[in-house]
Amino acid sequence: MATRGGFSSRLGFIAAAAGSAVGLGNIWGFPFEVGQGGGAAFVVIYLAFCFILCFPVMATEIAIGRKTEKNPVGAFTALGYKKWNWVGKMGIVAGVLILSFYNVIAGWAFGYIFEMASSNFGIADQFGEYTTKIFKVGGYGLLFMATTAFVVSKGISGGIEKAAKLLMPALILMILTMVVYSLTLPNAIDGIKFYLVPDFSKINGSVIYNALGQAFFSLSLGMGALITYGSYVNKKENIVTATALITLADVGIAFIAGLMIFPLIGFMSGGTMEGAAGGPGLIFVTLPQIFGTIGGTLGTIVGTLFFVLLCFAALTSTVSLLEVPVAYVVDEMQVRRKRAVWIMAGIIFVVGIPSLLGFGYSEFFSTAFTTFKEGGTDTDFLSFIASVANDSILPLGGCMIAFFAAHIWKKENLDEELAQGAPNYKGSFLQKYMNFAVGYLAPIVLGTLFVLTVLFKFFGISII
Ligand code: TRP
Repeated sequence: MATRGGFSSRLGFIAAAAGSAVGLGNIWGFPFEVGQGGGAAFVVIYLAFCFILCFPVMATEIAIGRKTEKNPVGAFTALGYKKWNWVGKMGIVAGVLILSFYNVIAGWAFGYIFEMASSNFGIADQFGEYTTKIFKVGGYGLLFMATTAFVVSKGISGGIEKAAKLLMPALILMILTMVVYSLTLPNAIDGIKFYLVPDFSKINGSVIYNALGQAFFSLSLGMGALITYGSYVNKKENIVTATALITLADVGIAFIAGLMIFPLIGFMSGGTMEGAAGGPGLIFVTLPQIFGTIGGTLGTIVGTLFFVLLCFAALTSTVSLLEVPVAYVVDEMQVRRKRAVWIMAGIIFVVGIPSLLGFGYSEFFSTAFTTFKEGGTDTDFLSFIASVANDSILPLGGCMIAFFAAHIWKKENLDEELAQGAPNYKGSFLQKYMNFAVGYLAPIVLGTLFVLTVLFKFFGISII
């Protein structure tokens, strides 16, 4: 076991797990989902999912990892249920798929640092063209992947933990600075209203699926990333408290990201909030326009700062995504870490190429996936992969992990592991809630939503 490594401290684990959770999902995905989901109503559903459903699943993942000290596939085997390790395998596939497209977006963000630093705000109107320059943006993506691989190759305490401890505080500082600035702009209040005053008439099936997908994705759940990180956690650690802190950090930063972005849109739109529903382009189109409106040195500084922040957030997440297949290869195939890291990173970069090409460069990858989406809207390859991995595999994985823990591995064993390092856990209300949530609530809700999502996304059948 000694060669597997581990986190050196409690804070190190929390920083790394929170770093995994906080990423493009919070700063890029959350605001655009809020915008498309009609604002505050989405936020309410999202928060409910995070605390009621995701929290128990997260604690369960970490507990399975710590108990077995294994990657997601090996963990099921180590508990004596080899038949279940397909859940882990599915998680590894999801990790590879997610990182493959995540890195494409991280590459764009990385390139934007240089565009902003050279005051090229006009990039906002050329975003469509920017993404077709595949050698340029692909080059940035390659650099980003190499940075991720470098961190992971340094191991758990020397790489992942160190990077998170450095990047997370920097990220929080930058984001708070930006919030303070945004809130001082004219019409900031209209942004805040859009963001925080719910209009429940805007809730429909699609808002609910997206809120669940977003919550799972943002908390890095459902594919064993936290089984993997949990496998490096000390037995004395209190998993329940750690889970609470990680969830709060993730939700908190998503929330703050909204506080940063919606006032900016309020300012830009003169209070109409037009552009809030900008979708995935929100960060790459709307924001640079706003930085351009600010103009001068200040615009350059704010714009550069924003994309540096985004890249920091993305890096601690890409690191966790790469760690999952790497841990699998290291544990199960006895490959040395360094080797496993560079091979995996290379494979995943290649898997990401269709996603990279799907933004205008290749007609086929940009629009050919039409039939997979509701209403026949054109769908690019990246969105298609996100529908498969984020919206389908993650809830299914979460459903299976919860069901497995409560009914196959048995809830007594889960309780036992969670009570290690948490002296007051046994007999507490939380324990009872966890038993209920992991045993019944999570499998039923996640299973149902998985089925509904698949019917809706891939077959165009809408039941609610
Ligand atoms: N949670 C990260 C984000 O919000 C992305 C991420 C990292 C992830 N590791 C994961 C998502 C594991 C799902 C599973 O950007």
